[in-house]
Amino acid sequence: MINAVRQFFEDHAPTWDDRMPADIVAILQRFATPMAATFSTVHSILEIGTGTGAFVPVLREYAPDARLVSIDIALGMLQMARRRCPPECYIQADVHHLPVAAVQFDLVVCHNSFPHFADKSRALREMRRILQAGGKLMILHNNSRAFVNQIHRQAGDPIADDLLPPGEELLQWLMDADFQDVQVDDTPVHYIATATAGAQISS
Ligand SMILES: C[S@@+](CC[C@H](N)C(=O)[O-])C[C@H]1O[C@@H](n2cnc3c(N)ncnc32)[C@H](O)[C@@H]1O
Repeated sequence: MINAVRQFFEDHAPTWDDRMPADIVAILQRFATPMAATFSTVHSILEIGTGTGAFVPVLREYAPDARLVSIDIALGMLQMARRRCPPECYIQADVHHLPVAAVQFDLVVCHNSFPHFADKSRALREMRRILQAGGKLMILHNNSRAFVNQIHRQAGDPIADDLLPPGEELLQWLMDADFQDVQVDDTPVHYIATATAGAQISS
């Protein structure tokens, strides 16, 4: 199934940005303004499922000096991201097997990508593994869960079942993966989960 999802994004990469609003960067900057203070304190960010890089300018705006590494399973999406933001560090990789040593980053960001991760518990444990204790995780959607899930269902296979979980379900997965201070803001306008890596590293 992961291969089918990857192929879906490889196939759509050349035209992916055509479906975005022309002012997508401004939209995302407004969405992320409440998180600016957190972004400004971090030194190293891993963005997972970066796609064509829509969120990269936002991270650069709010964390201009941080080391930023962007990962995506689909090479075609990363090639589009490279055109948008040439100097960044892009790596083709699967969130379930991050090619990154433990405790390297102090922020992990998943913007509009979490529903596509086939084994969400495993993905969260991988994110925890590469975070330093006290590091932050942000799972961000600038639309509601209902809207995101409807779009994916309408798109059909292979992403029809790539759904955002109810807040309580994500909260439990995050705590099981050794995250603390978990907050899931599952509202009619957005879905924002934040958590802090605990002291223990999950295997
Ligand atoms: C809907 S796009 C969002 C891209 C971008 N973050 C944005 O906000 O426009 C989801 C991205 O997640 C990537 N993705 C899906 N499954 C993945 C996995 N297992 N590991 C890493 N990336 C994955 C896809 O290739 C795709 O580029």
